[in-house]
Amino acid sequence: MQDDLKRVLYGEAEIAARLDEMAVQITQDYRGKDLTVLAILNGSIFFMADLLKRIPLPLKLDCLRVKSYYGKTESTGRVQYDPQTLPDMSGRHVLLLDDILDSGHTLATITEALRAESGLLSLKICVLVRKLKKRAREVEADYVGFDIPDEFVVGYGLDYEERYRNLPLIGILRI
Ligand code: IMP
Ligand code: MG
Repeated sequence: MQDDLKRVLYGEAEIAARLDEMAVQITQDYRGKDLTVLAILNGSIFFMADLLKRIPLPLKLDCLRVKSYYGKTESTGRVQYDPQTLPDMSGRHVLLLDDILDSGHTLATITEALRAESGLLSLKICVLVRKLKKRAREVEADYVGFDIPDEFVVGYGLDYEERYRNLPLIGILRI
């Protein structure tokens, strides 16, 4: 699989070290609060598992399956999820977890849907990777693993046409 990469951006050890730092920060920020994590699948699956194991708080975990339609490597702006599966987050401190902040369509859509519910106590966003680019939708991440150039990356949950999610590192795909 690694032969399909143009360049490795972050190896396993670097990702693990960054997750340690992020977990410390999140643990500090949410200590004493009732934290609920809402992870967006499939992309955040490895990030979710590895990050949350490092957070020693009795958090609740929910998942939401979201499909964002991509041409080859560009968002079409169409984001789809089943509204019936959007968990009731009233009275909760919610941390939304996703693999990557790219165009912003996915996270903007989900935060708007959550905010439309009554009584969210707080809402923050945590992503493993953030692309440095102008976004189609205005959305800011509160916790970011890595800032990367505007290139198409795979691995550690990130896919190209559903492949490469199981690559244990993050790299730029040779397309
Ligand atoms: P956004 O809605 O454009 O911000 O992107 C959100 C979703 O698009 C992510 O959860 C990914 O599934 C996918 N995506 C965006 N950029 C990349 C990339 O570089 N590699 C793989 N998937 C990506
Ligand atoms: Mg994808």
